[in-house]
Amino acid sequence: MRQPRHNVDPVTAGTVSAMRSVPEHVARPDYATNGVPILRTPAELRKDDATLERMRIAGSAARRVLRKVAAEIGPGVTTDHLDAVCHAACIAEGGYPSPLNYNGYPKSLCTSVNEIICHGIPDSRALRDGDIVNCDVTIFLNGVHGDHSETFAIGQIDQRSQELIQVTRECMYLGISAVRSGGVVSDIGKAIQNHAESAGFGVVREFIGHGVGEVFHHQPNIPHYYEPSARFEFAPGMTFTIEPMITIGSPKAQLWEDGWTAATADLSRTAQFEHTVLVQEDGVEILTVDDDEVQPFLADADRQNWPATISLTDTGFKA
Ligand code: CO
Repeated sequence: MRQPRHNVDPVTAGTVSAMRSVPEHVARPDYATNGVPILRTPAELRKDDATLERMRIAGSAARRVLRKVAAEIGPGVTTDHLDAVCHAACIAEGGYPSPLNYNGYPKSLCTSVNEIICHGIPDSRALRDGDIVNCDVTIFLNGVHGDHSETFAIGQIDQRSQELIQVTRECMYLGISAVRSGGVVSDIGKAIQNHAESAGFGVVREFIGHGVGEVFHHQPNIPHYYEPSARFEFAPGMTFTIEPMITIGSPKAQLWEDGWTAATADLSRTAQFEHTVLVQEDGVEILTVDDDEVQPFLADADRQNWPATISLTDTGFKA
């Protein structure tokens, strides 16, 4: 049995700054003005070539935005500052930061520290040596969303947190590796849960991956645990996220009173990595990478040669 960890220093809410504005010339998603998404799951889940080309552009833009955010991460830096960097970087790409006003979400980035599973709201809390933080970037560009996140270490982190980050990254790539045309959604969660639990970690149930394209979140749902009833079948042209949230202790989630911030109920640490992917005839393409990065899951590629992880290369943390 996994033991709940005693957490003497849980994350507490800081002050949230005013909602940032987006210049008039930037095209917005349907919810940008009143917070209510109108578009639903499209009737046809297999996207056409023109849409897929737009998604490659949005995906690589999300990757560049995350690099800019990553470059700012360090002890003493507030998550509000990271939000400001993300916001400006999205606009510099010509895009809109998708989280901003999505169902009323107040910021342009999600920053989830330590025991926060996802949807942490950037605020005045400064990152501390020993923290871990997931930064989740989504950009709306050319009418489509690109969704990408990694977990970063702040200074020196403890051994178990290092293992957590490493295993969570592996879970994401093993989940992507399990996707194939003609395969089913449950293949992904099976691969992820096997890997996480054999390392003694838990898999969050309450938050899952999702179809993405012109709509930020659409069908199919992608559980990161083995769900035998998830028999939805993949076909070329389908795009969705794989974004496992892995925990040191119990994976049970508890929502803060702000209605967004999801923490582990036992306050144990949790990490997340996310890519947006595309099902191809001969494998799966990662959309949230730069054009010159490797595509290990297409035909004849080296399936062990994964794209460089920003949090493992551009920051101090080495696995
Ligand atoms: Co997502």
